[in-house]
Amino acid sequence: MNVYILTLFPEMFSPVVNTSIVKRAQEQDLVRITTVDLRDFAHDAHKTVDDYPYGGGPGMVLKPEPVFEAVDWVRQDLGREPFVVLLTPQGQTLSSGLAKELAQKPDLVLIAGHYEGFDERIRCLAHMELSIGDYVLTGGELAAMVVLDASIRFIPGVLGDSESALQDSFSDGLLEGPQYTRPAEYRGLKVPEILLTGRHQDISRWRRKESIRRTLLRRPDLLKVADLTFEDRCLLEQVINEEKANKARGDNRGCNQTN
Ligand code: ADE
Repeated sequence: MNVYILTLFPEMFSPVVNTSIVKRAQEQDLVRITTVDLRDFAHDAHKTVDDYPYGGGPGMVLKPEPVFEAVDWVRQDLGREPFVVLLTPQGQTLSSGLAKELAQKPDLVLIAGHYEGFDERIRCLAHMELSIGDYVLTGGELAAMVVLDASIRFIPGVLGDSESALQDSFSDGLLEGPQYTRPAEYRGLKVPEILLTGRHQDISRWRRKESIRRTLLRRPDLLKVADLTFEDRCLLEQVINEEKANKARGDNRGCNQTN
């Protein structure tokens, strides 16, 4: 997959593209990431990329020329048409499903705007507008990093078997359940007994049940649309009854610290 990131601050991306899984994915030639400095496409010696808004008003607006010409440069570099995503708080909210969809694009352009806004005509370049949530960042760079990271995890081979995206929250429409590692007891907080038994089938069932419990307690909206099997529905009913009983007992979810 080829990813081009169009930005006024290419240096912001180096810690992300040169670390951990994103770095390894590039070393394995699964992803090729190119940051493109929009200032390289400015038309004057001062490398001006913004201007005052027509009609007045506060702040500066990103000019259309550098962005259009940077996308032209990408088209030339690739020799074909990439899928262009514009990062903006007005876009569709990023989800696991959208990240997966983007991971299937052979050539992706992420446009990170900055300043108070961008010239409306820049929207014409985009096949998709994406937001990472209902808040405004100072620029699209952090949003582009989030989109990049969330998407490349879905490219086959990017995650090792042990990191498989299949078990992640949202991969099957549910949140992932709790995980534990050694020690079996820490400051009086115990790992659930079942995980120490080595009974794989029982552990699997427990994990599924806890994933359902966590989704019920934190994101009941996801449960309404999740694809649940008959067995999942039985587990859900058990969880609902257990939670009613826990509530009646004033249970604090296993966080009773004894020392
Ligand atoms: N640019 C500024 N805020 C943003 C957001 N929430 N999502 C995507 N791009 C942005």
